[in-house]
Amino acid sequence: MASAAKAAVEAVQDGVKKLAVKEGSTNVLERRLFFIPSFKIYGSVAGFYDFGPPGCAIKQNVTQLWRQHFILEESMLEVECPAVTPEAVLKASGHVDRFTDFMVTDAKTGDCHRADHLLKAALEALLEDPKAGLMPEKKSEAEDVLARIDELDGPGLGAALTKYGVKAPETKNDISAPFPFNLMFKTSIGPKGDTVGYLRPETAQGIFVNFKDLLYYNGGKLPFAAAQIGQSYRNEISPRAGLLRVREFTQAEIEHFVNPDDKDHPKFASVQDVTPLLFSCALQTNEAKRPEAMSLGDAVAQKIIANQTLAYFIGRTYLFLVGIGIASERLRFRQHLPNEMAHYAEDCWDAEVECSYGWVECVGLADRSAYDLRAHSAASKTPLEAYEKFAEPRYEQVLVAKPNKAAIGKQFKKEGKPLQESLDALTQEDAACIKKSFDEGKPATVSAGGRDFEVTPALLDIKQEEQKLSGRKFTPSVIEPSFGIGRIIYCMFEHAYYARESNEDKSVFRFKAAVAPLKAAVFPLVQQPELNATARSISAALTRAGLANTVDTTGTTIGKRYARTDELGVPYDITVDRTTIDGDGSVTLRERDTTAQVRVHQDAVAELVQQLVTGAVTWQMVLDTHPAQQPAAEDNT
Ligand code: ATP
Ligand code: GLY
Repeated sequence: MASAAKAAVEAVQDGVKKLAVKEGSTNVLERRLFFIPSFKIYGSVAGFYDFGPPGCAIKQNVTQLWRQHFILEESMLEVECPAVTPEAVLKASGHVDRFTDFMVTDAKTGDCHRADHLLKAALEALLEDPKAGLMPEKKSEAEDVLARIDELDGPGLGAALTKYGVKAPETKNDISAPFPFNLMFKTSIGPKGDTVGYLRPETAQGIFVNFKDLLYYNGGKLPFAAAQIGQSYRNEISPRAGLLRVREFTQAEIEHFVNPDDKDHPKFASVQDVTPLLFSCALQTNEAKRPEAMSLGDAVAQKIIANQTLAYFIGRTYLFLVGIGIASERLRFRQHLPNEMAHYAEDCWDAEVECSYGWVECVGLADRSAYDLRAHSAASKTPLEAYEKFAEPRYEQVLVAKPNKAAIGKQFKKEGKPLQESLDALTQEDAACIKKSFDEGKPATVSAGGRDFEVTPALLDIKQEEQKLSGRKFTPSVIEPSFGIGRIIYCMFEHAYYARESNEDKSVFRFKAAVAPLKAAVFPLVQQPELNATARSISAALTRAGLANTVDTTGTTIGKRYARTDELGVPYDITVDRTTIDGDGSVTLRERDTTAQVRVHQDAVAELVQQLVTGAVTWQMVLDTHPAQQPAAEDNT
């Protein structure tokens, strides 16, 4: 077969395989209550999911591992802030004015769609359609638009949708021009209903508004990081991708505050050899458009990643994701394209994971400079600054501005108060602007208390003086890693899912033991009171060792009971049989993925499982040191 044709067949097969994983895993995930569409008996509402018992346990485990890997490792300061947020906070952060996605509506039905998602789907379909017969030039043009979709603004999206003749997906009706839609859920605070609030669209703002107190708590020292794990809310336009795009989700966010002049990280050496797939701007826009594996040390040295601190968190994120079971070859870090990045940001990378829905952003890592603290400083009139003491005093030219209180009072009466306050708090940058106007013989315009004032040298005296400075105040920069726990868990589900080679109907989740919802299941081989009692006492020992477990005393065949726990991803099964009671007191211990079994004494099994779960002992070590047990033919049950 010609290689192009072979590649096409493989791509189709791969697509079918991915689809099977999606359908197979989603089927098991919903049947075994990992997650459940919320409000199901009322017909459900798109974009909301409940976690059922195994889902809750996994989410708890992943969150706990996250806390261990980030908060404990870096001694981060954890906070928990309300989801209901007053308007002033989200106005200052820019969310009230700019937290929007572009939407289009179906010209006949009025149904809403996200403009970039429609364009992406249309371009992917076009590029995959062998009948489209695209000329190479048109093909590479379409590939370029696809690669740069996140850079497009409203008019740009509109032009591309028109150019490619995109219609509404189900009805094929015409669509409107794209228009911005704010994703925040609005609410009112208090019984009078006159105080506007929003459900927070991210947990980060709670950290910024507490910066001053957190810095004080940290003894005034930088760098330090604060973290928050909590619910965020976004009124997504058309959530259709299961757990990946929901309207309420758990975020885990870190704000690492640093001196903007020193973004080296003391622990960078610990990640410099980590070699993730990096999809830099250059690689996204060249012809091949493929990520490449590169060590983080090289990426910083070659200035592909802006600084050590951002690269450090990319490395820690990689280790966390792979550690909980994300396949490293299906994980890449994609750099934001220049126009995709907010104007204030210095560099941004998304951790994207490949699943049956394509490459999905699971973590956003951004160097946001001093933008957020400056915005909240200005709006709250609370300086959000840090102080740096110089090793040696410095002599610098500074501008000293002295408002003439009497003259201001005389000219503006009561209205002069906000002007006076604003002139008292002038920054060096503002003072320099005003001085420039004065030097040119012009008055300066100063905004205060909601109006503009014309300020002349008679009202404000500005002089340049040499000052001895023992330190300086500055607004810290922030590096923000932002994790979506649900997206990570969903991708982890897909990467962990497989069907037994011996029997395609038997599904297994190869969860890492630390992530698995239950660490062990205990079965009496047959329903007999002594076997049941021993199973219960082993279960109690597991519980005392802190291991979530279950006992299944149903008379169902042992093979069926193994299959049930495999479907939940339980790593170890313990079976009590007649040998336990009449023989040497041993039980069988079965490992999920190999299905191999050994005999272990009933009094030692809980501790052994604990060692396996923590990684102190490997399964191979257990095989080497315990007598093997021939399992019953599991399929023959
Ligand atoms: P997208 O472009 O996919 O809408 P985003 O760029 O708006 O995502 P961020 O604002 O960077 O996402 O949010 C940080 C993280 O929060 C994301 O990496 C993702 O894991 C998670 N997240 C964002 N929106 C959702 C959502 N609707 N459902 C689930 N998780 C989400
Ligand atoms: N441990 C019992 C069995 O596999 O049959």
